[in-house]
Amino acid sequence: MIKSNKRIYLDHSATTPVDPEVIEAMNSVMESSWGNPSSIHADGRNAKFLIEEAREKVAALMNVAPNEIHFTSGGTEADNWAVRGVAHSHKEKGNHIITAETEHPALLDSCKELEKEGFTVSYLFTDSKGGVHPHDLEAEIRPDTILISIMHSNNEVGTINLVHKYVEVAHEAGILFHTDMVQSYGKLPMDLKQLDVDLASVSSHKIYGPKGVGALYIRQGVEVGQLMFGGHQERNRRGGTENVPGIVGFGKAAELRASRLEEDSIKLKNLASSLYERLSEEVGGVKINGHATRRIPGHLSLMFDGVDGEALLMNLDTMGISASSGAACSSGAVKMSSVLKAIGLSEDEALSTLRVSFGRDNNEEDVNSVVAAIKEQVGRLRKTIPEVLTS
Ligand SMILES: Cc1ncc(COP(=O)(O)O)c(C=O)c1O
Repeated sequence: MIKSNKRIYLDHSATTPVDPEVIEAMNSVMESSWGNPSSIHADGRNAKFLIEEAREKVAALMNVAPNEIHFTSGGTEADNWAVRGVAHSHKEKGNHIITAETEHPALLDSCKELEKEGFTVSYLFTDSKGGVHPHDLEAEIRPDTILISIMHSNNEVGTINLVHKYVEVAHEAGILFHTDMVQSYGKLPMDLKQLDVDLASVSSHKIYGPKGVGALYIRQGVEVGQLMFGGHQERNRRGGTENVPGIVGFGKAAELRASRLEEDSIKLKNLASSLYERLSEEVGGVKINGHATRRIPGHLSLMFDGVDGEALLMNLDTMGISASSGAACSSGAVKMSSVLKAIGLSEDEALSTLRVSFGRDNNEEDVNSVVAAIKEQVGRLRKTIPEVLTS
């Protein structure tokens, strides 16, 4: 069990606590396997061995070959690398990229940078559940399209996309397909060989591993330009001395996820359903944003009628409950989330949203406490919105 500091943590889509077994594995690397993996002596070879062992574990959790996994500094770097790397190495073929307006900023901002360099990017609209329609994707394809990138599941509303259908559309037209799998990896069963994507981004800190480490899956034979120069690491594709403790921690986290994925997934789904049902009955005026069933296990984006979501979040925080109101990566900034706007919510609706994401150590007792806390706070906020907003 992960040690509890008595707070109730319900923000696992932002990050997860680090598993004690992961900490142990990382400590052991820092204490005794601190060699440089590029050194040819025994200390170096030992560190290199540990990296390759971790690569196998990270690869196994998505059913790909270890040599198709390239370690990065996280999901953000993996997204940047996929988009910029494909754009730069395939620009002879064309300069058009297709993505969706609900992608993570790591993807959207990479595309914005490419637009400055002369690439053209189409940002697909999504439906009211946050999903991209395969027909809309098909309609946007041009002879000069070189890459399609659509996320596996959305970090704000939790909707799982129909990636297998997009891959079919992309490959039919001979276009490479990348997916940001940061929110799905380790939470949903994942077989990339079957899914047939060309590139996929994952991150360690969403699966009880350390922060600052992730990976880009690049299917064997796919040409992707470099993002980081200055060394022969990662089979000459990403320069820089490897983050050995981080990579080993990531590998351990992936290994642990593989053994617990199914059991946790059922548990997380039940906790989320139980929370939503009880809030509907006991608080009322609450709706789910995003897809009702095709959703990341344990992830709920909830809209409370007549409630300022940011005030609710802060009041829950003072009661010892951690959740999130908008995109996790921009927490703190009280502005309408672009994802909620994209799925058609009004500003008022978007600003009345609370994101709750359960983790493996939550239980029904947490649901009881959270229902009671939300009931109290929503009751107060619905009566006192003007006072709260002006204080
Ligand atoms: C969908 C998605 N992509 C990318 C990232 C960025 O990953 P990292 O924090 O490892 O850079 C996140 C983080 O929240 C995410 O949710």
